[in-house]
Amino acid sequence: MFLCACVLLLLTSALGHPLDEATLDAHWEQWKVTHRREYNGLDEEGIRRAIWEKNMLMIEAHNQEAALGMHSYELGMNHLGDMTSEEVVEKMTGLQMPDSRDRRFTMAHDDTLERLPKSIDYRKKGMVTPVKNQGSCGSCWAFSSAGALEGQLAKKTGQLMDLSPQNLVDCVTENNGCGGGYMTNAFNYVEENGGIDSEEAYPYVGEDQQCRYNASGMAAQCKGYKEIPEGDERALAVALYKAGPVSVGIDATQSSFQFYVRGIYYDRNCNKDDINHAVLAVGYGVTSKGKKYWIVKNSWSDTWGNKGYILMARNHGNLCGIANLASYPIM
Ligand SMILES: *[C@@H]1O[C@H](CO)[C@@H](O)[C@H](O)[C@H]1NC(C)=O
Repeated sequence: MFLCACVLLLLTSALGHPLDEATLDAHWEQWKVTHRREYNGLDEEGIRRAIWEKNMLMIEAHNQEAALGMHSYELGMNHLGDMTSEEVVEKMTGLQMPDSRDRRFTMAHDDTLERLPKSIDYRKKGMVTPVKNQGSCGSCWAFSSAGALEGQLAKKTGQLMDLSPQNLVDCVTENNGCGGGYMTNAFNYVEENGGIDSEEAYPYVGEDQQCRYNASGMAAQCKGYKEIPEGDERALAVALYKAGPVSVGIDATQSSFQFYVRGIYYDRNCNKDDINHAVLAVGYGVTSKGKKYWIVKNSWSDTWGNKGYILMARNHGNLCGIANLASYPIM
């Protein structure tokens, strides 16, 4: 049945026909099974189905335009299919912008004059742990921070290890746990606390809890952090080159972001002045056609995006504000 649905989808796409109701019904049933969705009654299912269908048709329309060369990236249905982009931002982001007066440890301007390699990918250097899922908790900032610390730990010790976002959610009192926060507060906490536990010692639950930090599970320490000069994409590339993975904030409110699957993401509605989601830049590169991109790790599981990652347009007017709130820890 799933195969049938796929073939039908391919056929209807190829012929440019809109998806008919029977095909959508089959897709919907399959989607619910794949993502183990159960709804409380027909009303809720009706609402969710309507949102899913709108997303499905939007994805289809986008991909037809992409096939005509109108977009540099494609979309695909995923586990977020029955949510509006507003709901995704509400439940699965959690970056709060700091007061700009709080910015203190900015990278020196001279650093930005460095000659850079054409591409960097820290996944290939064993400095990036598997993609995680923050669930319905505004803990993106904790995953982004833990990811940047994991990169430094691997660089320093050669050991790749999952660090504990839950430790940060529960213990960074300057932040609001699942209610949101930002990364430099987390780096400060790890420095002042004398360490962060491993994921194994302090597993993720995705809810606010009492702080249960235990020094016997400590896996990494931090001596401070550096921030990238606001909006400076070149400085972000230099930080990636010289330091390692960098925590960044972006605008994640577009449904094009919600359903990205491949290509170089560029949506002109992505708002660099409204960043709301923390992720981890783990490299950059350029396509054979000369399109420059950032390699970005998200925390919406590996069924989101391209195995949990997105390539975002680089040197394209600070797309989505990727260079607005970028920082990395010093270990
Ligand atoms: C910390 O972890 C150690 C080793 O697992 C355990 O023996 C100790 O009781 C823990 N301390 C607290 C305060 O939970």
